[in-house]
Amino acid sequence: MRLKAVVFDLDGVITDTAHLHFLAWHAVAQEAGITIDEIFNEELKGISRMDSLVRILRHGGKEEMFNHEQRLALASRKNDLYVRSLASLNQESLLPGIRELLTEIRAANVRIGLASVSLNAPGILHALGIRQAFDFCADASRIACSKPDPEIFLAACAGLNVRPQEAIGIEDAAAGVEAINAAGMLSVGIGPGLDHAGLQLRSTRELTWKCLTDFWSSRTVLIRN
Ligand code: BG6
Ligand code: MG
Repeated sequence: MRLKAVVFDLDGVITDTAHLHFLAWHAVAQEAGITIDEIFNEELKGISRMDSLVRILRHGGKEEMFNHEQRLALASRKNDLYVRSLASLNQESLLPGIRELLTEIRAANVRIGLASVSLNAPGILHALGIRQAFDFCADASRIACSKPDPEIFLAACAGLNVRPQEAIGIEDAAAGVEAINAAGMLSVGIGPGLDHAGLQLRSTRELTWKCLTDFWSSRTVLIRN
């Protein structure tokens, strides 16, 4: 079977916004009397804004203390801080190797998709100057279930007009790797602790087109056998 598409997560794969999400949540959690650290933050990666807030309140034992309006206010405050921190993003803010990889995938005539649950994704792609690199970006505002549900990866494959079995998904979050696997795609995990990924890489420096095609060939040979 030929590889027809590569579907990227955004935050933490294409650019280093994962840390900016953490800093904004850390500040808002602190205001709500809750302390979060980078270890807990791993549980927020790939999780939508409101679901992340629920996890933080639960982590601090304060789920019952904030009503709907107060939660909306906290989420909005987090987003204001986060969006402010995005002001420094520019065309240099791509993680190492990503620009080259996008060019090589395009040259190989393989489709490129985005599966980010971030409502800020369109603005971030614009700031990075790479919107045109994507054949289809799944619309986070139309997604009912956050990762690890496969919904956003399935939406990306449908928009690209490929079957999930013909595509590779790339993620930096455990919930994201689970979503890719549940969609029936091959998964690549960037960073530590992603044991369920079909291919685990230490950083985007290792994420080359050759590495993806070798992975694809090895896995499809295994399936054929
Ligand atoms: C994901 C991030 O990409 O987007 C999560 O990994 C974040 O940390 C989610 O909560 C939603 O992002 P936003 O920009 O809509 O708040
Ligand atoms: Mg991510």
